[in-house]
Amino acid sequence: MLRSALRSTVPALSRGFTSGTVEGFTGAVGNTPLIYLKTLSERVGSSIYGKAEFQNPGGSVKDRAALGLITNAEKLGLLKPGGTVVEGTAGNTGIGLAHVCRDRGYKCVIFMPNTQSREKIELLKMLGAEVHAVPAVAYENPKNYNHLAKEYVEELGSNAIWTDQFDNTANAQAHYETTGPEIWAQTKGNLDGFVCATGTGGTLAGVGRYLHERSKGKTQIWLADPPGSVLHSYVQSGGKLKEREGGSITEGIGQGRITNNTGTIIDKVSGSLHIADEKSISMMYELLDTTGLYLGASSSLNVVAAMELAQKLGKGSRVATILCDGAHRYQSRLFSRKWLQEKGLEKAIPEHLQKYIVLE
Ligand SMILES: Cc1ncc(COP(=O)(O)O)c(C=O)c1O
Repeated sequence: MLRSALRSTVPALSRGFTSGTVEGFTGAVGNTPLIYLKTLSERVGSSIYGKAEFQNPGGSVKDRAALGLITNAEKLGLLKPGGTVVEGTAGNTGIGLAHVCRDRGYKCVIFMPNTQSREKIELLKMLGAEVHAVPAVAYENPKNYNHLAKEYVEELGSNAIWTDQFDNTANAQAHYETTGPEIWAQTKGNLDGFVCATGTGGTLAGVGRYLHERSKGKTQIWLADPPGSVLHSYVQSGGKLKEREGGSITEGIGQGRITNNTGTIIDKVSGSLHIADEKSISMMYELLDTTGLYLGASSSLNVVAAMELAQKLGKGSRVATILCDGAHRYQSRLFSRKWLQEKGLEKAIPEHLQKYIVLE
């Protein structure tokens, strides 16, 4: 059942599940371990599991979305050999797309705000992408990088796609067909809760929908939200969208609207958790200290949320979340004392973990 479900729609993602070897970058996407976080589990008297998405070949959970978006366009006949893939992205999706484009022989064009780090721009270029670093303006402005990506594709005409990761539900579908079934199989269907933060909402929607359906509602789906995002208040208020305000040190998560992807799960979430940056940064250092896992801030936020959810669900509960990417892409900030001081977060890191702040 699981095999045929996986094969039916995203064949490339399923290969690793059934055979000893895989083919190329795309064959290596998915089929990641589910890690039992022992020390943290024992602290709350429940079982906390993290899906090791940082082990994807491009280094993040967004490899699955990138592959799903491109595979879907191929199936719809929108993308043929020699075609062009365009996206507006400042982060992991662009990296995933650039990798998949090399593997499949497409040209990759990325629009991003020119405020992004030189490392990110250089990495995308090293992966063969054409990068347009454009002035950083609000989404409402027609010159916003997302709108420019869409316009660029319209000018190219045929055999070119704008992957539109926020509103193209092929993103969530990739998680429905792979990440969700993997977690279900790895926990043998014995899971009380699943929680994660959202950027596009693809991960929460795809995994959440699969687990909710497969468990017949037994697995509760919860949304975790960083400061500066409106989704926690949306869930708490029963569906009122407020103006976005404030910000977070986490990257890739937090949202000001209900994207099409989030829209496919939001009415099924049992609740939401707001996680302050102080908790996320402290957990990042703690995960390093107690598990050896070197994870980014969105993963750390997810682990805090999983522990809080486990406490809500009661002793002995079993909760899974997503370990989205590693800390490597953010280390010059997250391990810099000066940066932590500027953000007012230095004191959030307990005394015994201060030794990990090794950069000035
Ligand atoms: C580091 C990181 N964590 C979490 C997410 C959120 O994933 P999703 O877009 O599936 O909601 C992203 C998305 O770009 C990300 O880059």
